[in-house]
Amino acid sequence: MELVIGDEEDLAHAVAGRISEVLLSGARCPRVGLATGKSPRLSYEILRALHQNQQIDLTRAVWVMLDEYVGLPPDHERRFDSELRRSIFGGLPLAVVNLLSPFPNDTSDGDSLDLFREAIADKPVNLQLLGIGRNGHIAFNEPGSDFSSRARIVRLSETTRDDMMRDGWDVADMPTHAATQGLSDVMASQEVLLLAFGESKVEAIRKAFRERPNVSCPASVLQNHPNVKLFITPEVAQVLR
Ligand code: F6R
Repeated sequence: MELVIGDEEDLAHAVAGRISEVLLSGARCPRVGLATGKSPRLSYEILRALHQNQQIDLTRAVWVMLDEYVGLPPDHERRFDSELRRSIFGGLPLAVVNLLSPFPNDTSDGDSLDLFREAIADKPVNLQLLGIGRNGHIAFNEPGSDFSSRARIVRLSETTRDDMMRDGWDVADMPTHAATQGLSDVMASQEVLLLAFGESKVEAIRKAFRERPNVSCPASVLQNHPNVKLFITPEVAQVLR
């Protein structure tokens, strides 16, 4: 496991740099897995700017979403696909971005999730970007998720819903479920970049990498992955020394 330690801005540039390298590599159609949420936001702004300056081409990759809320109307601004279309893909016509979702807004049914599961099993991503929840979730694999889990619909944990409330969600609108890649899907990626910034992630990172792998901390499965890079702020790094 490789550690990259710095402030959030330096880390965002380092993450955007690694994604750019993959896009600029000779690979014909690289596949990159995208998380949403606060942690990757600045990296996405940087990537959007690089595309606008024609230093990279965001249209030459297949972008694979980690997860999506279930039950939100297609035009809801908090859907993860809407968030990605505003952030990293802001300004790009929908048709030119190849974005694969576990729960697309036009066909949100069981069949689309089956197709997604097959698509990611068929061609795992070259690079997977991950955030981590306070409870150690990666994607929406909440504590207790089986390490062999595949893409599926899950119930969001109380901790996750508490964090969503803190993030401004109205309880009445707040989803109870999400479609998520499973832990075995995440483990199939060739390379994982895990972002953990600030005090609120310290305990989750300690459990994930300083205790034996255990389903009570889903991110601990990453101890078994051969190519993980942690992008962490100094307070998070302290627990790994
Ligand atoms: C979002 C996702 C989640 C987040 C995690 C951290 O697509 O899969 O696992 O990465 O909840 O969220 P932030 O970055 O907002 O702290």
